[in-house]
Amino acid sequence: MKLWGGRFKESTHHMMDEFNASITFDQKLYEEDIEGSIAHAKMLAQIGILEKTELTELITALRMIQADIETGEAVLTIANEDIHMNIESLLAEKVGSLSKKLHTARSRNDQVAVDLRLYVKKALVNLTGRLNDLMTVLLDISESNMDTLMPGYTHLQRAQPITLAFHLMAYYEMFSRDLDRCNDLKRRVDVMPLGSGALAGVNYATDREYLKEQLGFSKYSMNAMDAVSDRDFVIELQSVGSIIMMHLSRFSEEIILWSSTEFKFIELSDQFSTGSSIMPQKKNPDAAELIRGKTGRVYGNLMGILTVMKGLPLAYNKDMQEDKEGLFDTVETLDICLTVFTEMLSSSIFLKENMAMAVKKGYLNATDLADYLVGKGLPFRECHEIAGKITMDCIDKNMPIEELSLSELKTYSDLIDESVYKALEPFTSIEGKKSAGSTSKNSVLEHINLCKK
Ligand code: ARG
Repeated sequence: MKLWGGRFKESTHHMMDEFNASITFDQKLYEEDIEGSIAHAKMLAQIGILEKTELTELITALRMIQADIETGEAVLTIANEDIHMNIESLLAEKVGSLSKKLHTARSRNDQVAVDLRLYVKKALVNLTGRLNDLMTVLLDISESNMDTLMPGYTHLQRAQPITLAFHLMAYYEMFSRDLDRCNDLKRRVDVMPLGSGALAGVNYATDREYLKEQLGFSKYSMNAMDAVSDRDFVIELQSVGSIIMMHLSRFSEEIILWSSTEFKFIELSDQFSTGSSIMPQKKNPDAAELIRGKTGRVYGNLMGILTVMKGLPLAYNKDMQEDKEGLFDTVETLDICLTVFTEMLSSSIFLKENMAMAVKKGYLNATDLADYLVGKGLPFRECHEIAGKITMDCIDKNMPIEELSLSELKTYSDLIDESVYKALEPFTSIEGKKSAGSTSKNSVLEHINLCKK
């Protein structure tokens, strides 16, 4: 008979058992479920619902069940629907009717809410660790590439000279915002829902303060109905996760481009590349492509949970069981993607000469030519036009601006003198950036030092 079988005459259809059950996926919550049950049992003992000896017996049995699940010895079945009732029935096998006392002053609704919050709290600790690892690698590579030239792009067209350190530190900023978002979410997940019962609270003077402390939360929820029907923290995790994946995906896209023969800015290590079964010359950036691809499933999980929640009346509805698979998938996807990405990046080699060569082609110094003329007293729009004409003529002749002779340059403006050649060099351009947060060496160094603190 089902644990809730009392008011039923007939048993459920086998199809319904399968359809209704969540044990195939929510068994991932076994640790959190047992942690929650132990805290609940301790609290019941505190308020005199369980004897001291009963408490000890329950805790010992719950720990044994945990070990049995870990070794695979415990049999989890669809007949027991979900992780909560599977553990309860395993407990009955061990302690008999004592197991029935544990569910006093508790519902599966507040039980699953506390399990999920514990799971998300742990996931966030891991996630922030992974983000930190990636950020450390970014800082390291940036520090040793302060003088590595590369083209900065807009519209994927070569735009202005920058350094690799500056480019990578842009990603550092993105991931540091992600870290911030995770830490911010930690505060909101940190609310203990246990003790809410099914939706209205329970008819026992439970000590929620004690429960909260046992489970390591900093507060307990103030409205039972909200506590059992709130999945904002799942949605927020999906949302933060989607943003992280978007950042990883943009970075992956650049790595894919950079590793192509067209760019040749980066050589991925063999460890994170794959070959082709037909074309012997191929070395493919599969890791980066997979990360870019997996962004799709995380976005999907966000849309999934938003849609599950949008029409639900208060309080708990079974729809909410659909919160889990997407959550687990996102947490696991983020973990593997961040880990692989960090390893892939730190084992890659930047082809500095090619990057510097790319700065030479594509008239990245045209803006500097215009700024040079501004320095000679012309208004910027006029300078832009003169620099534009020079660039166009050079494009026609297929030569870089700095290869024009001084007399040729003077035909465009007699304000131009010998000093123009210095102004056209990439490092002059980079060091010419005076604004805070620019690609100049001092500015990037200041940024890196700030981040190292
Ligand atoms: N397996 C359920 C879930 O994940 C647990 C809560 C069930 N609550 C209920 N009232 N049927 O949502």
